[in-house]
Amino acid sequence: MADMKTEDAFVAFERVQKSYDGETLVVKDLNLSMPKGEFLTMLGPSGSGKTTCLMMLAGFETATHGDIRLDGQSINNIPPHKRGIGMVFQNYALFPHMTVAENLSFPLEVRKIGKSDREAKITRALDMVQMGAFAGRRPSQLSGGQQQRIALARALVFEPELVLMDEPLGALDKQLRETLQFEITRLAHDLGITVVYVTHDQTEALTMSDRVAVFDDGRIQQLAPPDQLYEAPENSFVAQFIGENNTLEGVVKEIKGETALIQLDDGELIDAKPVNVAQPGERTRVSIRPERVEYKKDRLSPDAHTLKAEVLEFIYMGDIFRTRLRVAGREDFVMKCRNAPDQTRLKPGEQLEIGWLPQDCRALDA
Ligand SMILES: Nc1ncnc2c1ncn2[C@@H]1O[C@H](COP(=O)(O)OP(=O)(O)O)[C@@H](O)[C@H]1O
Ligand SMILES: [Mg+2]
Repeated sequence: MADMKTEDAFVAFERVQKSYDGETLVVKDLNLSMPKGEFLTMLGPSGSGKTTCLMMLAGFETATHGDIRLDGQSINNIPPHKRGIGMVFQNYALFPHMTVAENLSFPLEVRKIGKSDREAKITRALDMVQMGAFAGRRPSQLSGGQQQRIALARALVFEPELVLMDEPLGALDKQLRETLQFEITRLAHDLGITVVYVTHDQTEALTMSDRVAVFDDGRIQQLAPPDQLYEAPENSFVAQFIGENNTLEGVVKEIKGETALIQLDDGELIDAKPVNVAQPGERTRVSIRPERVEYKKDRLSPDAHTLKAEVLEFIYMGDIFRTRLRVAGREDFVMKCRNAPDQTRLKPGEQLEIGWLPQDCRALDA
């Protein structure tokens, strides 16, 4: 999928740049190919260019440079209402003076669909989002979650092949968000539609998507399925942005195949997988997930480099134990252990030797 040819793609961005003021590029060099039926999420901090990309794909903004293609055709040549794109935004954007049924009828009327067809499609779309009983209500008579379901039904009612969603659940509380996350992915897969979804919430991105494009500063920093993004971040930005992560800084001493020897700034040596470092002498940030840190000798290989650690804080979280450690001069090093029958509850002041498998410790850019 990652190396799919752009001419076979359903949605393709090719070297797309965007500037609003003719000076600063807010989208710098975007390349992206999506097959039909994929659920792709653009994830990134505020201002990283996600909405701009969605707006260019929808046709409300034009690219300053590069090409965007939909089903092989450059979208510049297709008027917005013929693109077959459904859209859902954070603030629902329902027409307040229209009933739910009238809101859903609108995109069908624009597409010149006859009355009896319209009624059948509206009923079906409302049933899909479990809102069949609400056709006669106005948006102000609905809760936030119900309004967002209607916005979703309105985006799906004309059976678009592509649906764009920009932070559609951002305004909802956690429980409702989780319910709708599940409903959106189920609907997308059942209907076989292609979705470009935008969020700044990493859990949402990881749980909903086939692939996630991590945005920062107008560029895609990494484009990968959720498990790869979490387990194999390619650079420090992605490692920091996705999930919890320990970072230690140092210098590359030597690289032998799949292992790099790193000297940390306080002088200690550790083994790491060289991911985004090229040669000895380079500064690096190594990243280790809290759940990959071990302190029991029998779980570490005998020749592993270990680090001295002092327990600063032990937090009982039910399913896991979270321990904050002083390691290599830092006081924010976190180790997570599963609450298993043989697991010890550590106490502040205890001294440990910690380690990990070299492949779980990634040497990235400094
Ligand atoms: N209509 C606009 N005019 C000028 N600048 C804009 C406009 N829309 C967005 N920007 C700027 O473009 C950058 C990217 O914004 P946006 O695409 O909205 O990011 P995101 O959706 O990731 O938060 C930001 O610096 C933002 O201020
Ligand atoms: Mg945005």
